[in-house]
Amino acid sequence: MKDFFQLLKKDKKLVIGLMSGTSVDGIDAAIVEIVGHGLETEVDLIAFETVPFPSGVPQRILALCQPDTGRVDDICEMNFYIGSLFAEAVKHILQKSEMSASDIDLIGSHGQTIHHLPKDPNIPSTLPSFHPSNPLHPSALPSFQSLPIPSTLPPFHPSTLPSTLQIGEPAVIAHETGIPTIADFRVADMAAGGQGAPLVSYPDYLLFHNSTETVGLLNIGGIANLTALPANGAFDTVCAADTGPGNMCIDAVITEITEGTERYDAAGQRAAQGTPHQPIIDEWLNHPFFHLPPPKTTGREMFGRNYAMECLAACRKRTLSDNDCIATLTELTVQTITGYIAQFIAGQNPIDVLYVSGGGVHNQTLMQRLSEVLENTTVEPVNTSGISADAKEAIAFAILANETLHGNAGNLPSATGASVRKILGKFVLP
Ligand SMILES: Nc1ncnc2c1ncn2[C@@H]1O[C@H](COP(=O)(O)OP(=O)(O)O)[C@@H](O)[C@H]1O
Ligand SMILES: [Mg+2]
Repeated sequence: MKDFFQLLKKDKKLVIGLMSGTSVDGIDAAIVEIVGHGLETEVDLIAFETVPFPSGVPQRILALCQPDTGRVDDICEMNFYIGSLFAEAVKHILQKSEMSASDIDLIGSHGQTIHHLPKDPNIPSTLPSFHPSNPLHPSALPSFQSLPIPSTLPPFHPSTLPSTLQIGEPAVIAHETGIPTIADFRVADMAAGGQGAPLVSYPDYLLFHNSTETVGLLNIGGIANLTALPANGAFDTVCAADTGPGNMCIDAVITEITEGTERYDAAGQRAAQGTPHQPIIDEWLNHPFFHLPPPKTTGREMFGRNYAMECLAACRKRTLSDNDCIATLTELTVQTITGYIAQFIAGQNPIDVLYVSGGGVHNQTLMQRLSEVLENTTVEPVNTSGISADAKEAIAFAILANETLHGNAGNLPSATGASVRKILGKFVLP
């Protein structure tokens, strides 16, 4: 085990960032050399790899994400199992890089989100579990209601109490790797009234803010999120939000129509062969989430499989071909991103350059359409700035762990809506 105070004194550290996003496609592991901390932070990516989940695991994770299939005993066990898989990902990337655990100072692990309930009261939920008529709704559970609730606690109200749950037990990661591990970053922001996301906005600020250009950082994972960094702006000028589905609905529909033989639209080829159907998109754009001002976040709870299957049914009702449906969903991602920018960002801070990261960067149709619609903005994969598009989120969690180690706050209230800046995460020594 590294001596904690020795670790703090080191100016240059090797930190492993671990991330698995809403796409549940694999564990992103990045070995990052970090020099300094706070505004002085400099990073260099040493190695990166997405370690796929073992067969059957994504399905088990997706079952945990749904109120009707996420059993508490499975969640309990999977928290440890996913922790073990994250530890395996660390061992894998170390072996591949011919490094050993003793070379690494720290791990920052995002974990795997299985539920995210930011609970903006303006958003009418479509989730059955929120509905009082649902048998799982707490108001329908007599044994729960009969528990005496201490008067000092706020009453439990499922539609207003914000919460989020990332699993992948850090004690397991720290034990199995022998490396100090910081994890569970989102909850501190949410405890302070924030959305718990996007947390990447602060690392984005550290790496990309500059005096001359307004920079946008768009990550297209399962969900798409955008951080806008006004030229020469301070922390409190940063504006961030999830814009809606990124690849999530496209992936779900492709998986459905190919009966699982394809999981995503490779390079956006299917979308390129189809034609988007604007009248359906116009209907979909009526979803209230797309009209909420930032900060706002969403996830599989709102735009997961049920939503995607409704979209597929709407396309089939209009006799669209499968590729037309993929093109239409791809265009929904484009128009929700560009619509958000037009409605909430461009008026005050026109974006000069938009750096795109996440798996969506490989979807050429998506990238081309973003460039076409955002005609006054340079749209580029973030790789052109020297940061890997695939590794960027894992790098962000390595940076956040380094910030926590140094006692620096890692959230930005203007990005998440939290009432204060918070030091994020929970620290486990091996
Ligand atoms: N070659 C590709 N062509 C098109 N889309 C891709 C490609 N590679 C990955 N993707 C998309 O990116 C997703 C994974 O992106 P990622 O950034 O890891 O998302 P998350 O953070 O939600 O896990 C995949 O599910 C898929 O939709
Ligand atoms: Mg991923």
